[in-house]
Amino acid sequence: MRKIGVLTSGGDTPGMNSAIRAVFKEGVRQNLNVLGIFHGYRGLIEGNIRELTHADVENIMHKGGTVLRTARSEEFKTDDGLKRALSMAKAYSIEGLVVIGGDGSYRGAKLLNDMGVPTIGVPGTIDNDMGYTDYTIGFNTAVNTITNEIYNIRDTMRAHDRVGVIEVMGRYCGDIALWAGVAGGADMILVPECPLPWEDAAQTLYEYRLRGKLTSIVVMAEGAGKAEEFAAFVREKTGIDIKAIVPGYTQRGGNPVAYDRILASQLGQRAVELLCEGQFGRAVGTKRNQIIDVPLEDAIGRLDSFDEKLYYFNNNVLAKF
Ligand code: F6P
Repeated sequence: MRKIGVLTSGGDTPGMNSAIRAVFKEGVRQNLNVLGIFHGYRGLIEGNIRELTHADVENIMHKGGTVLRTARSEEFKTDDGLKRALSMAKAYSIEGLVVIGGDGSYRGAKLLNDMGVPTIGVPGTIDNDMGYTDYTIGFNTAVNTITNEIYNIRDTMRAHDRVGVIEVMGRYCGDIALWAGVAGGADMILVPECPLPWEDAAQTLYEYRLRGKLTSIVVMAEGAGKAEEFAAFVREKTGIDIKAIVPGYTQRGGNPVAYDRILASQLGQRAVELLCEGQFGRAVGTKRNQIIDVPLEDAIGRLDSFDEKLYYFNNNVLAKF
């Protein structure tokens, strides 16, 4: 193998740059030319490709976003788009490809691999919704960001004796809500994995108030509903002064925490090693602190195992407040 490509795809995540850097470093170590494909699969279709140099990856380890940019390409999902991507890979003599992204990006990676472009997936998404790996790159950073926000919000909620409901990202996965909620001492966590009827949630917040707890923080996964709607529901049922807060993209940006930088470095390096070993169509990840790899088809659509014990510990203890 002489030439490999690397792209980032889907939603950006803190740590993507660390992974790009690792792919480049390991590529150089293995005497490969490393091509950067800009704007994800769209860049592959359009030939937005050039060889990376040391300057491209210098001083990027700690930076959020992705120097390769990213995109969600609708065209790539069409037969014509896939065909154009394949012929571009051929035109640039790409013999191996590293795709850094989430589940949707892995589906594209599998298609390319099946059509003859040896491909490896590196899990990059804040959602932590890929069940074959304990952690995805960026998740820990997003949890830290939200945890800090919870404390800021709690200060102002307390000053007004209000309830704050914070809606966090994660698509259908409640991991960001669970982890940030626990770390931020949330009084209630709402996740899709363990649905809590809003009626019961409103009643619990009302009882808290009756018992003298004037301020509560609710962390709500976007998969469990909209914070604005929940707040309106609680306000109507109980008369509580409740505010909805949606931190949105702040949780996707920012400098990656050390854990994400290290995980990204390990996974980026392993992805290139696999290509050099002739092991294609695989996804790298981490299980019980070991770097693992599994076939892409086993990584796709595999739901995350939700930590119900942690969830019930947090919600039950507080229900007895
Ligand atoms: O998958 C990452 C993610 O940030 C989700 O948590 C969120 O639902 C979605 O992407 C937002 O997507 P977009 O960047 O297209 O608005």
